[in-house]
Amino acid sequence: MCSVIGYVGKRLSCPLVLEGLKRLEYRGYDSAGFACVNSSDRSLSVQKAVGSVKQLEAQIADAGIDGYVAVGHTRWATHGQATKENAHPHLDCTKRIAVVHNGIIENFQDLKDVLVLQGHLFVSDTDSEVLAHLFEQYVTGASDTHEAFIRMVGQLKGAYAFVIISLEYPDILFVARRGSPLCIGVGKEEMFVASDPLAFAQQVEYVAFVPERTCGVVSKDSFVLYDREGMAVQTPIEQLEAEWIAVEKGEHEHFMLKEMYEQKQAIARTVHFYQSMKKGQVEETLGVTQDFLRDVEKIYLIGCGTSWHAGRIAEFFFESVTGVPAAAVLASEFRHRTFFPHPKALYIAISQSGETADVLETIRMINSHGLSTVALTNVASSSLVRECQGFWLTQAGPEIAVASTKAFSTQLTSLYWLAHYVAQIKGRIDQKQLIQAERELLTAGELLEATLEEYKHEVIAQDAPIYSAFNRYIFLGRHISYPFALEAALKLKEISYIFAQAYPAGELKHGPLALVEKVVPVVVFSHSDPVIYHKLLANVQEVKARDGHVIAFALEGQYELIAAADRAFVVPQSAPLLAPLVMAGLMQFFCYAIANACGRSIDKPRNLAKSVTVE
Ligand code: AGP
Repeated sequence: MCSVIGYVGKRLSCPLVLEGLKRLEYRGYDSAGFACVNSSDRSLSVQKAVGSVKQLEAQIADAGIDGYVAVGHTRWATHGQATKENAHPHLDCTKRIAVVHNGIIENFQDLKDVLVLQGHLFVSDTDSEVLAHLFEQYVTGASDTHEAFIRMVGQLKGAYAFVIISLEYPDILFVARRGSPLCIGVGKEEMFVASDPLAFAQQVEYVAFVPERTCGVVSKDSFVLYDREGMAVQTPIEQLEAEWIAVEKGEHEHFMLKEMYEQKQAIARTVHFYQSMKKGQVEETLGVTQDFLRDVEKIYLIGCGTSWHAGRIAEFFFESVTGVPAAAVLASEFRHRTFFPHPKALYIAISQSGETADVLETIRMINSHGLSTVALTNVASSSLVRECQGFWLTQAGPEIAVASTKAFSTQLTSLYWLAHYVAQIKGRIDQKQLIQAERELLTAGELLEATLEEYKHEVIAQDAPIYSAFNRYIFLGRHISYPFALEAALKLKEISYIFAQAYPAGELKHGPLALVEKVVPVVVFSHSDPVIYHKLLANVQEVKARDGHVIAFALEGQYELIAAADRAFVVPQSAPLLAPLVMAGLMQFFCYAIANACGRSIDKPRNLAKSVTVE
């Protein structure tokens, strides 16, 4: 999704801003831009490129521009196509003001209509351009700049994180945030502003997270932030976390590959992190009391994409381990449905990034009813953590590839652990069983890695050349393996661009069976429960009887399934509810190898962004 960066300080800005943009490239974008107060003649210099930051870099080198105050942007098209005109920075009429913006200004048309009547000329189709003209109209020349800027920001509706530079105020970055993340990198005689601390993590040691609904000004030595009423807002300056500083793919061809291989360690780190918590720390972190957990009557698991799939798998964890009904809901749908507040429900928002706009909006809606919300995320500094009453962190480490892998497996780990913890509070299991669940998770992590290692060479050499030639796939599962099939279908389509659809296997004869033919491989994820396994087997026979091609992820000892399949991967048995975790590495690798054989841009698939900060 879009990324913004700003710099003010003692160093020339261009290499710093471009480096920052490169570090955020993984979030996905289709155009890039840069503007600075040019140090040679104090003019405003702007360069934009459709395509990569590298292209932008080449353009800037040719133009020979740089300065000590600058902004940069990568844009993921929402309003208007990916063109130079629509790329950021956007300028005002006088070309003395430049703005970079993330999010959507929902009332931009109303604001634009008034500005046009006031004589402003717009050149792009974007909502963001309105910010430059508003600044020109309301802030430039104002007797009290800070107050004028606060008033300007007060007119905006929607979600935004933006940075403005102006020749009128050549040593200042104007910043504002609402609903989109923004943070300030604090250095010696220099400051960065960015949508993600990763942008400046190698340059400065400290970070301040701009609070929600604040705006302010940043100079090289200090910053001041204000709330809507114009009152100064204090925000802590924190040491940057070491893990965000060095993010490289090392010897691996792709970040996705590296991240798949990191899963065993990430699972173990997550389990050990929870094990190390002291008495009472779990409840304190979750933002609830032990009594609340004992009496909890419903668990909601809210997420999008892969995180929603993790939630759907975790429904089974909570229901079977705690005996509490659980419902995984899609954030983008849930928030528009009639809401029935449940005071004894725990609302767990699952989001790797902690910045997904739909999840944040859903949590804001739930928070407004005074209910118990928990952020289950991989990013401690995320907006979701700040906005929920409690939080619950996975320990996956930074995930850069757009396709989620280790974030997914650590979400499952986290939710499995949490289900057992709640069950213990409820008296359904004892301490020993919680320790046993921890062992099961560690074993599942080891089996995940062992399975991936066992098959990876075959998958690359034999399977990928064959399976990359198909252009439609069906994925099947039952019970806990159905949401896993959903995740597998998502993984395949997002990185290979091959159409894939997942169905609950029992639904096959209610329609999807009509799609079965030789050229549509059917991928089946098995289950350890004998009843469910035999029902899955019957579905496989239905496919085979229609000349279908079956790829099975079978469990050890499931001989009939192994024999019936055209291609079988045999996965070791584990704790029954953890089969999806054990299969995750191989499933992801299978999709990865197909995508690689198709020559796709694996870490940054077309049209997608890592962090979806618009609704
Ligand atoms: C998964 O591979 C995708 N990148 C996507 O579905 C992702 O899980 C979704 O956008 C939610 O992101 P989040 O976990 O950061 O909220």
